[in-house]
Amino acid sequence: MTYGSVLSVFVFAIAGLAAPSDSGTEQRIRALLGRMTLEEKIGQMSQSTSMARLTDEFREQIRKGRWGSFLNAGSPADRAEAQRIARTESRLGIPLLFARDVIHGYHTIFPIPLGQAASWDLSLIEQAARTAAREASAEGIRWTFAPMVDIARDPRWGRIAESPGEDPYLAGLVGAAMVQGFQGPDLKNLDALAACVKHYAGYGAAEAGRDYNSAWIPEVLLRDVYLPPFRAGLDAGAATLMTAFNTVNGVPATGNPFLLRQILRGEWKFPGLVVSDYEAISELIPHGFAATPRDAAREALKAGIDMEMVSTAYWDHLKTLVASGQIPESLIDQAVSNILRLKFQLGLFDVTPVAPAQSHVTPESRAIAQRLATESVVLLKNQDRLLPLSKSVRSVAVIGSLADSPVDQMGTWVMDGQPADVVTPLAALRRMLGDDRVLYARGMVNSRDSSKAGFPDALAAARRAEVVLLFLGEEQILSGEARSRAFLNLPGAQSELVTEIAKLGKPVAAIILSGRPLTFHEVADQVQAVMWAGHPGTMGGPAIADLLFGEAVPSGKLTVTFPRTVGQVPIYYAHLNTGRPAPPTELGIPLGNPANPQGYTSKYIDVDFTPEYPFGYGLSYTTFEYSNLRVETPVIRRNGMLKVSAVISNHGTLEGTEVVQLYVHPVAASVAQPVRLLKGFQRISIKSGKSETVTFNVPARDLAFHNQKMQLVNEPGRYQVWIAPDSAGGLEGQFSLEQ
Ligand code: NOJ
Repeated sequence: MTYGSVLSVFVFAIAGLAAPSDSGTEQRIRALLGRMTLEEKIGQMSQSTSMARLTDEFREQIRKGRWGSFLNAGSPADRAEAQRIARTESRLGIPLLFARDVIHGYHTIFPIPLGQAASWDLSLIEQAARTAAREASAEGIRWTFAPMVDIARDPRWGRIAESPGEDPYLAGLVGAAMVQGFQGPDLKNLDALAACVKHYAGYGAAEAGRDYNSAWIPEVLLRDVYLPPFRAGLDAGAATLMTAFNTVNGVPATGNPFLLRQILRGEWKFPGLVVSDYEAISELIPHGFAATPRDAAREALKAGIDMEMVSTAYWDHLKTLVASGQIPESLIDQAVSNILRLKFQLGLFDVTPVAPAQSHVTPESRAIAQRLATESVVLLKNQDRLLPLSKSVRSVAVIGSLADSPVDQMGTWVMDGQPADVVTPLAALRRMLGDDRVLYARGMVNSRDSSKAGFPDALAAARRAEVVLLFLGEEQILSGEARSRAFLNLPGAQSELVTEIAKLGKPVAAIILSGRPLTFHEVADQVQAVMWAGHPGTMGGPAIADLLFGEAVPSGKLTVTFPRTVGQVPIYYAHLNTGRPAPPTELGIPLGNPANPQGYTSKYIDVDFTPEYPFGYGLSYTTFEYSNLRVETPVIRRNGMLKVSAVISNHGTLEGTEVVQLYVHPVAASVAQPVRLLKGFQRISIKSGKSETVTFNVPARDLAFHNQKMQLVNEPGRYQVWIAPDSAGGLEGQFSLEQ
């Protein structure tokens, strides 16, 4: 792209911006910009991560305005002092912005985002983010790099743990709830964190699930699947956005005028701050997109990156790029305006620098963490109603290192959570049942251990106990950034341990802690009950203990498909039908062993084409029945509202909470649409023996999709609609959409 054409896109983008903030703030920004040297401007556009301590060198740099922001800087006391220097000793008194990855909690750690989403409880997710914001802001942090709203449909990708899952509608709502929680009612409040929707865009579509890998995403998929959660986060008021490491259709997201200038600033009119990911500007060179750091700086700024994280291409080259006329200073002014605006919005210019403070886990934050952990656990199997267990059980064997590993329980991206604050399942079970009735054996040193040296102790404990609780899964370090896996099985000797224990013939419940969907088909076959608990955070232990013993009833539902085997990946519920969909009669193919090939339909010959557990799936201790589907609006118009209801009855003996889901599918469309798409859900509690009518009102505009010309349209025609307990079942009805 030539410089001239970039400029014209840019002009268009600026002209399209929404009124970004009040006119008083805009005046203050202009006045300040007018007094800043070019060097001071470029300093604002630079974020450092190297201030582990506030050294004399950093004091001097802050006085000179070398940095606009610090990531992971020093202690609360260092941050407070650095802010004091910036405010009172730098030439223009421009405050610093302290950032940190407050992803799923600060001191109090909530479940990983994939777990939080499984609660489908938006208000609780918002409360968790609010709590994290209070704890972090008290220690001088005002910017978090969350929520991550990357759609993740590949469990090999380690960062699926940080994602709300595979569905754009749900991911958008979860992301928006987090934005509202982090930012609170007003960014100016001292306990507000500016949120950052990331990683724009397509990071979760890394080829083969290998982190940082290229993403090839047709525009229609970008617009219908990968971009909507970003839009939802920005509509919820997210102040900032981070670009992704990856290329999208060959162009790095961090130098991508189509994503940043055309869509983000042009179509969406985003007025906020855009930050690169960690060294992503200098990574334009290995990407093969820029030849030198100078080219990288130019391309990133032209594309619209306001602040550079960690690498120093801006600092090193923008000055000469301006001097040589390759970059107009107006581009720099625009970027600096976006940065200063956020600092004004956060009130950083207006408050007196405060003394450092320390925040702590509190009884209130623990209560939220425990509730969210409880709601995030998904019951996958409960044969013969093994669960809930009776508290009068003679003894339980608790087996597995993950039963008592605070760090693993907290999961990925935890920098400020203290292991000492964590209550593990083992500790919670001992508290609940007394030490004497809980027999603990690790079985293996950690989840990857392939030694069987610990098996005899584990088997001895299991033999002595009435019931076995097996804690399986993945340690914390196996998921998260740069933690892609090519196998999705339980690592180490875990499967063998399960087989040995199952031979004893005792009732066994497996609790799986992991940052991703795993494949554990054979394990599930050998035990009576299976729960997926993600990495449930500080209060995961009491949450799991309560669920196992019926103090709480499971209500979580998966927000990502669990495959039968890694060979099915990517597998997700919202796929297209193909011209030759396999009928249900073609199920029952033995896993891994090619059957006598039959038919010419879209399937595998060595595993069923369906997943192990579908999106939206999760059991309860009670039984819900769906009946009386009523499509109250059999014909709707483009500006109308779809109204559908069903009766949900609790036929069990316990009160329970059900996540009722609404899916839609246009029968014929100009661009083939997924077999089902989630368009609504409700969490409802129903008492034993009672029924509730659940009604969904869906605006017709929510049914729009992109046509061949990339226009967002409501196409007329017949639609199927389901009210369902998960993406694979439910009651089906029909309606028509008219022009
Ligand atoms: C790299 C990660 O991709 C991003 O999510 C994170 O916010 C930054 N590092 C800062 O730690």
